[in-house]
Amino acid sequence: MPSDSSPKMYTSNLDVKPFVPPGPNDSRSPCPALNALANHGYLPHDGKEISLRQLIRALTEVFNLSTPLALVLAVGGVLLCGSVAKLTLTLHDLALHNRIEHDASLVHDNAHVGDKFAPTPVDPVLVDRLLDEAEAEDELTADFFGKMRARREAEALVKPLNFIHANFARGESALILTTLGHARPGDDITHRVVSVDAVRDFLGKERFPDGWVKSKETIGLFTIAKLSGIIRKAVLANSS
Ligand code: HEM
Repeated sequence: MPSDSSPKMYTSNLDVKPFVPPGPNDSRSPCPALNALANHGYLPHDGKEISLRQLIRALTEVFNLSTPLALVLAVGGVLLCGSVAKLTLTLHDLALHNRIEHDASLVHDNAHVGDKFAPTPVDPVLVDRLLDEAEAEDELTADFFGKMRARREAEALVKPLNFIHANFARGESALILTTLGHARPGDDITHRVVSVDAVRDFLGKERFPDGWVKSKETIGLFTIAKLSGIIRKAVLANSS
């Protein structure tokens, strides 16, 4: 696998590079998006020492994130968890507990008490429970993700997430909706909905869903902030 593989532009699943599951020596993170990018060869498949440039290019070209949003995510990842000297990131380092990683993830178990790193493999029980709820819906909306976040926060936290981690958590759901979702007729990008199958593949298997088409609209910071606000309201509405 070339370490500097350049993602190519594509508009349909026919062009998505093949999924190659990680091997025993490959590094993976608690982030389904970065793992999927590595599993499909848009980031180095071994997940090690990924350069800032490779990260930004994958986020902008594969997911159509705006350059400012990709910069914020990639620079944040490198500064908080990577090598500042080399400006690289090894995926597993993102599991550093309470750095970017936080408790009450949708499909990851909390870090075990005293552990420096949180688990990176998805928790199959959490995936199944998320899918059980999802299957009762037609399409998954921001309200759905707010409800699921409220449930996880109620069951998995002793004290509430701090301000930063609560924002990260809502931002992650906003990223799912924008990168995996599609607009309903007449709705703008902040009203995207995601299919249950897309959630199953992306969050559960860390692979691009069959038929996935990248967002035709560039996904920017403002959109993520607005959608996070919608998700916040839904979390509050579903919290006791
Ligand atoms: C360089 C860019 C990125 C970095 C450094 C990053 C980092 C992380 C980290 C550290 C986590 C763990 C948080 C937790 O404890 O749940 C995480 C989770 C997550 N990330 Fe990313 N991420 C990036 C880009 C993206 C993108 C583009 C998406 C788009 C879909 C995304 C979607 C998610 C989701 C949905 C989760 C939550 C998984 C769960 O709840 O179990 N991330 N990310």
